[in-house]
Amino acid sequence: MNIKRIGIILIIVLFCFGCKLQPEPEKPVVIPPDTSTVVILTVGNNKDLNTLLNDEMSGKTITWSSENTSKVSVTSDGVATATIISFSVAEGGSKKYTEGPAKAEVIITAKTSDNITQKFKVIATTEAQEKIMDLPPLKDRFPSKILLGNIGNSASATLTRHYNALTSENSMKPNAIAPNQGSYNWSSDSFVDSAIASGFKVIGHTLLWHSQIPSWQTAIGASASSPPTPEQKAAALDAMKTYITDIVTHFKGRIYSWDVLNEAFPDNPGSTWTSAIRQENPWFKAIGSDFVYEGFLAARLADPDAILYYNDFNTDQSGKATIIYNMVNAVNQKYLTSGDKPEGENPARLLIEGIGMQEHHNAGVSAGNIRNTLTKFRQLTGIKVSVTELDVLAQSWSEYSSNTAVTNNGLITQATKYSEYMTVYRDFADIIERITFWGITDNQSWRSRALPLLFDKDGKAKPAYYKFVGAIPTTW
Ligand code: G3I
Repeated sequence: MNIKRIGIILIIVLFCFGCKLQPEPEKPVVIPPDTSTVVILTVGNNKDLNTLLNDEMSGKTITWSSENTSKVSVTSDGVATATIISFSVAEGGSKKYTEGPAKAEVIITAKTSDNITQKFKVIATTEAQEKIMDLPPLKDRFPSKILLGNIGNSASATLTRHYNALTSENSMKPNAIAPNQGSYNWSSDSFVDSAIASGFKVIGHTLLWHSQIPSWQTAIGASASSPPTPEQKAAALDAMKTYITDIVTHFKGRIYSWDVLNEAFPDNPGSTWTSAIRQENPWFKAIGSDFVYEGFLAARLADPDAILYYNDFNTDQSGKATIIYNMVNAVNQKYLTSGDKPEGENPARLLIEGIGMQEHHNAGVSAGNIRNTLTKFRQLTGIKVSVTELDVLAQSWSEYSSNTAVTNNGLITQATKYSEYMTVYRDFADIIERITFWGITDNQSWRSRALPLLFDKDGKAKPAYYKFVGAIPTTW
C-alpha cells in the first residue's frame, strides 16, 4: 500500500468519524389534537390551556398561536378565549338557537423551543355550559357599595350565592298588597323576612303606579272630574297618604329602598313634568301633579331610613331622561325649603334620593344613550342611580314584536350589548347604587321568548354572562 492510498483511506475514515460527531437533526415531535385536548368554550369564556399540556411540554418555554384569532385568541401565556363576534351561516350563525347552537373550530398550537408541538382543538360555541352554582359569586365582583340584585320570591341557593339585593317581581305591587281600600295582604312578610335573614337588602316594588293596581285605586281616578274638585282632591290625597303610610309603616326598618313612584311618564313626554304624567295614573287624575311630592313625603315620614326612588323604563331616551330630571329636581327643591322633614333629619337630605333606570333593553338600544342619561342624572347632586330591572332581548325590538325566533348570532349581539352596558355602568360607579337583573334564567323571564338573561333555561351561563362579567373591572 503506497502512501497515497493510505492517505485516501485516512481521509475517508476521518470524514466518516466526523459525520458521527455531528448531532443527528432532531425529528419534530407533534402531539396531534385528540379528544383529551378538545376544549369547548362558550363565546366570551376562556381557558388556561397550560392545564392540558402533555408531560413532554412541561417546564419548557412555550410559544402559543391561534390559526384564527378572530374566533379564538390565545395569550402569550396560553389562555384561550372564544372571541367570536358572529358565526357564519355554515357555522350556524343565522340558525335558530332552539334548533342547535352555532360552532366554530379553531386549532391552537403550543410549541416549545426544541420543536415539540401540541395542538388543541378549541370549539367556540353559543351553547351555554357552565352551571350557575359552579361559577364564582357575581356579587363579589362589585365593590361593597354597589349591590347586585335580582327578583325572587324566596332566598334560594342560587340567589344567595350570586346576589345581595332582592326585589319581589309581583307580590308587593299595589293590586297584590292592597286588594281593597284599607285592607292589606301581608303575605310578602315571609319573603321579606327570609330575604333579610339570608343577608339580602330588600327592595319594595312599588307603591304608586298606573298598572297592576287594585280596582279601588282605578275608581278613585275614574270618578274624579277633570280637573278634580277640591273635595275630590282632598279625599284622594287622604286615601293615597293612608295607603302609603300603612304599607311603609308595616315594613318599616325592613325595606332598604322603595320604588315609590313607577313609570309616571309616557315616552316622548314633552317638557313640562307637571302636565306630562300619564293620564292612566289614578292619583294624577284625582290629585294633580302634587301627588308626586305628597306620595314621597308620606313614604319618608313613615320610614325615614328607607331610600326613596323614582323608577321608569326607556330612560335611555333623552325626552324621558329630561322630564325625570326636571321632576326630581323640582320635588327635591320644594322639599329642601319646605320644613316638611322628619324631626332631626339632615337639612341637606333629599326627598327623592334615587332614580331607577329599569333597563329593559333590546339589541338595538345604544350604550351611548345610556351614557348620556347617566351623565345628565349625575348633574343632580346627591342623587343615586340604580339599574333596577336589567334584561336585554337577544334580538331587535322589531324582531321581538314580529315574534321572530332568536338566532345564534342574536345571542352574540346580546352578549356584546351586555358588555357595552356594563362598561357604561362601570364609568358611573360613583353614582350607581345597585344593578338588579329582572330574572335569573331565560325561561323565568316576562319576555322569555327573546332569551333576555345571563343564564339559559338549564341555569347555564350564556355568552351574555361572560361578556357582562368581562366588562366588570378587576379593580375598582
Ligand atoms: O297571577 C296571575 C295568574 O293567577 C293568572 O293565571 C295568570 C294568567 O295570565 O296571570 C298571572 O298574573 C300575571 C303576573 O305577571 C304574575 O305572573 C300577569 O298576567 C302578568 O301580566 C304579570 O306580568 C308582570 C308585569 O310586570 C305586569 O305589568 C311580570 O311578571 C313582571 O315581570 C312585570 O314587571 C314590570 C315591573 O314591575 C315594572 N317595570 C316593567 C316590568 C315588566 O313589565
